[in-house]
This record gives sequence, structure tokens and C-alpha cells, in this order.
Amino acid sequence: MNILIIGSGGREHALGWKICQSEKTTKLFFAPGNAGTSEIGENIPVGVSDFAGIKEIVLKNQIDMIIVGPEVPLVEGIHDYISSDNDLKGIKVVGPKKSGAQLEGSKDFAKEFMKKYNIPTAGFITVSNKNLTEGFEFLSSKKPPYVLKADGLAAGKGVLIIDSLEEAKQLLSEMLNGKFGDASKKVVIEEFLSGIEVSVFVITDGKNYKILPEAKDYKRIGEGDTGLNTGGMGAISPVPFADDEFMKKVEARIIKPTIEGIQKSELEYNGFIFFGLINVQGNPYVIEYNVRMGDPETEAVMLRVKSDFVSLLEGAAEGTLDKKSIEFDDRQAVTVILVSGGYPGSYEKGKVITGTEDVEDSIVFHAGTKEKNSEIVTNGGRVIAVSSYGNSMKEALSKSYKNAEKIVFDKKYFRKDLGFDL
Ligand code: AMP
Ligand code: GLY
Repeated sequence: MNILIIGSGGREHALGWKICQSEKTTKLFFAPGNAGTSEIGENIPVGVSDFAGIKEIVLKNQIDMIIVGPEVPLVEGIHDYISSDNDLKGIKVVGPKKSGAQLEGSKDFAKEFMKKYNIPTAGFITVSNKNLTEGFEFLSSKKPPYVLKADGLAAGKGVLIIDSLEEAKQLLSEMLNGKFGDASKKVVIEEFLSGIEVSVFVITDGKNYKILPEAKDYKRIGEGDTGLNTGGMGAISPVPFADDEFMKKVEARIIKPTIEGIQKSELEYNGFIFFGLINVQGNPYVIEYNVRMGDPETEAVMLRVKSDFVSLLEGAAEGTLDKKSIEFDDRQAVTVILVSGGYPGSYEKGKVITGTEDVEDSIVFHAGTKEKNSEIVTNGGRVIAVSSYGNSMKEALSKSYKNAEKIVFDKKYFRKDLGFDL
């Protein structure tokens, strides 16, 4: 099979790495990819939202299956576009259609879905300029901190957690008046939940599902979970507190009712569901749905999938996941993200990266990198993921840290305390 992966991050490189291990894979393509993905496939410089450009790639290279990495093209309807085009009949797509992608594309839609199907989540109200007073009343009736979420996609920046009531009211008004553009024309105000977070992933054909290895993501820039939120500074899998008892609750209370809800609400869904969960005294609650894999979680999770991944992807695209099986590697997997100095604020690009060839006993996934004059240079905030296996978390982390030191670029930074809270 010829397979096209849409996206350019560490997640897409890690998906490609796993897909390459399958005998079913003939050739792999990335649109647009990065300097790492060009080592395992062919990069084609077409953006993730350029559907006509993607169609051209599919036709020119006889693509059989498309895997959509990021949420934006899914919310924009890439799957609907492919499956409604007569020239593209029979092309398999992994990623939900627009109807299913609303679970990430609209926080209000996701919250109403959870309410309807009794899926545990924080209490909430959705506010627009029409019912702002109700929003103020909801805030006033709660204790701090206050959680405000832009309804639409806001590149991971649309959630505000605020300590003062006055500030929360002020920010609510600002959001409704365009702080995040159209994405915050509606705002979901939520009750604050206190606990530790975990990312749970399933692959589904909309009816059947398989649970993938869970992971924990370290989102803050600073050690000890301090400082600004980032796209993710590292991840570990498995997660010690997500034991059998906890995961049984997750499956019964969250995964099953979500899949049933997808069917009852007639959402068209072939792809991944990423449940952003919080463990509140042993009970899982949904913080958010994402309609794709997580980044950097994928750079750890792919290490733990033992089964033929392409066969699972086919099952999801074709509606035959019930005939597939999934096996996990029991070892600990971790990934450490190397970022550009200054990230998540402003940072420079174009720094030469050396030393990846000296890495031993870890797997290097590229994120924000590109080739320039036959050198590899930084091209984003999150630059490289260093993933390792170990018999313990400590062992896996020490391999990644040792190799993270060998990779050199100006102003490189990474967190050295992953797993500190477990
Ligand atoms: P989201 O984009 O919905 O995942 O929110 C970003 C982050 O905000 C989450 O990863 C949580 O750390 C935090 N968060 C979101 N909603 C809540 C909530 N209801 N209670 C506590 N923390 C939350
Ligand atoms: N690691 C969180 C995300 O992918 O949204």
C-alpha cells in the first residue's frame, strides 16, 4: 500500500516510523513532513489544508490510504472532501469526517455530547453575547479558579484558568468580543476539576474500537510543572496510576458511551479519539476530546504498539476493527522533547542541528526541523523528540537524557524532571 501522512510534527514522524515496520507498506509520503520524515518517506511540500494539492498527490502517487495527523484539516472536512470526490473513490482515510471532528472543533458540541450520553465531565454553561449575564451568574456562584474555554479551535491557546472573579468576568467579555477571533464567539465556562491528567487513545471505525497505550504528557515549560503551557515537553507510557481498575472505569464510563454516542448521534468517525482525562480521586472525567493522536504522546505510544499498525489503520478506515487485535509492548516508553530557547514565547529558527547520528539506544523523531543547504536546521519551537524504552521509567529516561545531550543546537532546552510527579 502507498500511504500518505498529513502533517509535519513529531507525531507524524512517529506514526510513519511505526507504519514503515508493516509489510503492508510499500511507500510512504508526507505532506509536508520535516527533515526526519524525508529519511523514511518522500516529503511533498503541500500544506495540511490544501485539499486540492493533496488530491493531486493521491492521484500522482497512487495513494491507497491517508492518515490525517493534525486536527485542523479534519475540522475543515478533509475526509468529506476525499470521499465525495469521484476521482478519489476507494481511498481509505483515517480521521473522522466533519461531523465527528466537531468533538474537537467545538467545545460546546463536545460538552453537550457528554451531557447527552452521561459521560463524566466538569459542569458547564455555554455563553455568547446573548446570555452574558447568565455567564456572570455562573462564575459568581463558583469558587476560584475559573475555567474559560473558547468554543472553537485556538491552536491550543483557547483555555484560560483564572484565580480572580473580576478578572474572569473581564476575560469572558474580552473573549466574546474577539480575543480569539471567531473561535471565542462562544465560550464554555467550566467547573474546575482537581487531579492528575492522563491521555487515553482509541482507534475506532465508529462502531468497534481498540484501546491504544495511554500516556502522560508534560505540558509546562518549566521543571516541576511551572511556567507557560507548551505543546508538550515530553511523555511517558505506561502511566502508573492508570492501572487496570482505573482503565476499567475509563472504558465503562467514558469510552463505551462515547462510541455509542457517536453511533446514536450519527457522527461519521474512522480514526483516533484522544480522551484528555483527569483522575479525580480515582474517578476519570473528560477534560476534552481530540479527534487525532496527541503530540508528544504519539512519540511514546508508538513504541508500545506491537501489532501491525497498518492493519489496525485499515480496520479503522474500512469498518473491520472487530477482526483486528492489538498487542502492547510492556516496557516503559518515554519521549523527551528538545525545544528552541525562548519557546513557547518567541524563538529563533534556522539553528544547525548536529549529533543525531551519535544517538545510541534511543529513537529520534523530528518535529520542527528542515533541510537547508544539506544541513538540518531548527524550524519550530518543538524541534526533536528523543524516545527510549526501558525496564523502568528511570532507565528509559536516563537513555533519552543521555542522547538529548548529544544532540546539539544553539539555545537547546529540555526538561530534565519528567516523571517527577509519579
Ligand atoms: P483543554 O484545551 O480543554 O485540554 O484545556 C487545557 C488544559 O487546561 C488542560 O490540559 C487542563 O490542564 C486544564 N483544564 C481544562 N479544563 C479544566 C477543568 N475543568 N478543570 C481543571 N483544569 C482544566
Ligand atoms: N499533547 C496534547 C495534544 O496533543 O493536544
